[in-house]
Amino acid sequence: MTSKCVISLDLPEDIVAPLSDQFDLLTWSGREAMPEVTLQEWLADAEGLLCALSTPITASVIAGAEQLKVISTISVGVDHIDLAAATAAGIPVGHTPDVLVDSTADLAVGLMIAATRRIAEADRWIRTGQWSQGWQSDLLLGTDLSQATVGIVGLGPIGEATVKRLRGFGATILGWNRTPKSLEGVEMVDLEDLFRRCDIVSLHTALTPDTLQIASRKRLASMRAGATLINTGRGALVDEAALIEELSTGRLRAGLDVFETEPLPADHPLLSLDNAVLLPHVGSATFSTRMAMVTRALDNLRAGMSGQPLPFCANPEVCGFNG
Ligand code: GLV
Repeated sequence: MTSKCVISLDLPEDIVAPLSDQFDLLTWSGREAMPEVTLQEWLADAEGLLCALSTPITASVIAGAEQLKVISTISVGVDHIDLAAATAAGIPVGHTPDVLVDSTADLAVGLMIAATRRIAEADRWIRTGQWSQGWQSDLLLGTDLSQATVGIVGLGPIGEATVKRLRGFGATILGWNRTPKSLEGVEMVDLEDLFRRCDIVSLHTALTPDTLQIASRKRLASMRAGATLINTGRGALVDEAALIEELSTGRLRAGLDVFETEPLPADHPLLSLDNAVLLPHVGSATFSTRMAMVTRALDNLRAGMSGQPLPFCANPEVCGFNG
């Protein structure tokens, strides 16, 4: 009998087709996230799950999936999966590190420039018919990256790649990492110092119980007037309510690719704030990066389905002992 595999997101036909030769596929084709009850039903007798950030894989989903041999997510982050529950159940979780580093670092720097040079705001300004005079000496003035002190919170591969880019801009760089690290051209400081001293703070740490709201109300309040917060990590790294207050008074700016609630509700207060550049979680959204992520996720899925160690495993405790 062919093993059953659930795909919880809509993927292009040519990507799914080779899998259908090997497995009995059940694919969610809705554009909205797959409801948990449907996921639970489909997983009742499935051996594999291919998923992404839009599907929370909770402890109860895992508990009901008694045949499950592997969870493979098309993402580097695994905070949408109850990793402890998967590990306790002996289920390896595959993810897609490394391949999205450059795309995400590019986007972080893009957001820094967009926010500090007011690119999205200026675009809206033109489109709403406000450009009635030619060049004006004081129009939409911003600040320079070359004169900025930029703080990088989390010096993993994406944080490091962001540092590499910022060196080229001539920025002064401060860094903080959970474990001690030294990096050329980066002054390592504690978090309080970093938030206090920087013109731009960029978040690159994984979301864990320790990093939840690492950009806390107190740290946001300690940022310099006119400073910018960049988040390409996870929404829950920031106290979003506190950030909205700081943006509403005009004291801070922001460039955000991730939010506490995604998609952002239509009446969300951030949508009316001109000093925030908002993107719909597209840090890794380039053709080649998405292709590389899918390839990595399929390699993980196939390995797990055949009881082999996953090439890229988020819970190594169980990755070698599957099947
Ligand atoms: C994107 O946010 C990812 O974790 O891949």
